Amino acid sequence: MKTLFPDVRGSLRVTAGVYAPQHDSQLLIEAMTRSGAVTGRQVLDLCTGSGAVAIAAAQLGARSVTALDVCPEAIACTAGNAAATGVYVDARVGTWVEALAVGPFDVVVSNPPYVPTSPAAHLEDISVEVGPATAWNAGADGRLVLNPLCDSAPELLTDSGTMLIVQSEFADVEQSLRHLRSAGLRAEVVLSQLIPFGPVLRARANWMESIGMLPVGRREEEIMVIRAEKW
Ligand SMILES: C[S@@+](CC[C@H](N)C(=O)[O-])C[C@H]1O[C@@H](n2cnc3c(N)ncnc32)[C@H](O)[C@@H]1O
Repeated sequence: MKTLFPDVRGSLRVTAGVYAPQHDSQLLIEAMTRSGAVTGRQVLDLCTGSGAVAIAAAQLGARSVTALDVCPEAIACTAGNAAATGVYVDARVGTWVEALAVGPFDVVVSNPPYVPTSPAAHLEDISVEVGPATAWNAGADGRLVLNPLCDSAPELLTDSGTMLIVQSEFADVEQSLRHLRSAGLRAEVVLSQLIPFGPVLRARANWMESIGMLPVGRREEEIMVIRAEKW
């Protein structure tokens, strides 16, 4: 894929306990860049982590950027990265509930936790350098944050507003599309990428195979960006 935005992976300072930008972060930034929807608009990055997507939105010419995350370390990290990059991001601790209080926004971007979580996830041996489990664990079906996020879309967005969400095929993309459409939005997959399993999915592959979520022996995942429009 020919990319329009430089690779942010490894380019930001990521402090302990914060998710380091990965393929999904980069795919969301790429979709945001291609959308042309950000310049001059009020943008919310929900689940901001290191602030990679929020900072990219500011660099793309957003009028204002708000970044929310449940994790205070992520918010401190985002504020530091924004300052080091020379852009302003209003970074605050919060979830979609706080977003509803400060919104609506012209553009909402989100890379939420979406990894299906096995009952034995607490026994996994995943290096702390990969990040905190709260960055990816999202319940047995991977939809703990995706469902309320999709359902809140009409209230989070201004009229004609745009939402971009990145998620895995394993967290039921069709369900996200259904939620968004039944909330009255137009929604479609606009970008996707096949990537090799990282440490978290490698640790869960046997469980995913055992429940029929993953074909036996497959170790690749398709990640996708959904674009939803309020109209
Ligand atoms: C996959 S990481 C994405 C980080 C960053 N946006 C990126 O693309 O690199 C998900 C982030 O969501 C945060 N998070 C988890 N649950 C959340 C919630 N309910 N509301 C807001 N943030 C949440 C985690 O702390 C983590 O920083």
